[in-house]
Amino acid sequence: MKVNGRPYRTVWMDDESTGEFKIIDQRWLPFRFEVETIRTTEEAAAAIKDMHVRGAGCIGAVAAHAMYIAAFESEKSAGKIFEEELRQKADFLASTRPTAVNLQWAISRQLDEILSQDSISDGAKKARSVAQQIADEDAEWCNRIGQHGKPIIEDLAKKNPGRPINILTHCNAGWLAFVDHGSATAPIYAAHDAGIPVHVWVDETRPRNQGARLTAWELNQHGVPHTVIVDNTGGHLMQNGMVDLVITGTDRTTYTGDVANKIGTYLKALAAKDNEVPFYVALPSSTFDWQIRDGVKEIPIEKRDGDEVSMMSGLSDRSGDRETEVAIVSPGSEVANYAFDVTPSRLVTGLITERGVCDANETSILNLFPEHKK
Ligand code: MRU
Repeated sequence: MKVNGRPYRTVWMDDESTGEFKIIDQRWLPFRFEVETIRTTEEAAAAIKDMHVRGAGCIGAVAAHAMYIAAFESEKSAGKIFEEELRQKADFLASTRPTAVNLQWAISRQLDEILSQDSISDGAKKARSVAQQIADEDAEWCNRIGQHGKPIIEDLAKKNPGRPINILTHCNAGWLAFVDHGSATAPIYAAHDAGIPVHVWVDETRPRNQGARLTAWELNQHGVPHTVIVDNTGGHLMQNGMVDLVITGTDRTTYTGDVANKIGTYLKALAAKDNEVPFYVALPSSTFDWQIRDGVKEIPIEKRDGDEVSMMSGLSDRSGDRETEVAIVSPGSEVANYAFDVTPSRLVTGLITERGVCDANETSILNLFPEHKK
């Protein structure tokens, strides 16, 4: 995607440099665009945990690059120590965020590839090419999600000529949450680029405001008409016929179709069901959990620092780019910060994947991904 006209991915390696990679540091958007260089496993872990990067696909791709750094760092040790050290680093990286399954997926894929090499230096070389491969795959899968999701918007446009199709989205499942294109936004970008009129309702997404800060910024960069709303607005809009379609992303979806996504997604799905608004979830196959059957009972839900709820940051001077933090909760009150919730499959109209659209149930998902049939 382009930032001020220049193409970017969220994570990349420069051809000439070894033992480092670059990320877009999302903490400062939309007010400042900054690129960060990651040189150690510790820096990579901090970037994931403290949300310099976030979003399932992006976290997975960054973890893949972090494993390359880990292998590069461990290259100096010999034999068994290399494997031990690498496994420790893999565990350390995997512990940074519990809900997005892409993290573990990318780390175990890298571990298998590195440890199957004959020599340590081959392992480090392999890790570099696998990191690149995971990033390229993520971008291509999201591109295909766009192509498979576009007809859903196209059909709605045919049924409602002469007005834009109103799509509600929650959190940021845009290109910043992946390597490129995004999941929930990919069909929107594809429809917009094809000349189909769209308008996006952007949930601000408390407490980190990924919608107000990131999705809105992305849509601005791409010229897609949109309106930011507070999180509790969706139900009212749906009751008044102002939402044609909901598309969200997901951080982990079970092979039975239960969807973990940013906190508040479940309430949107309930309102959509009550108002007969189609509720789609867009995801690459790297976000399926092929082990877990019951998402509500089994998906680990991250609880983050209460300061994310009780403090808020933003510009005190609209013309500047330095943010100020302010307290917004009565001092002394307890706060709880559940980062994700689970939407049961019965509330999901369909899943938009890189292989096509399927129903949110075991049979339909496994028909699209037969290699995961047990
Ligand atoms: O806590 P974050 O910002 O990493 O949240 C994850 C997400 O980006 C959303 O839940 C998103 O909708 C999932 S799509 C990658």
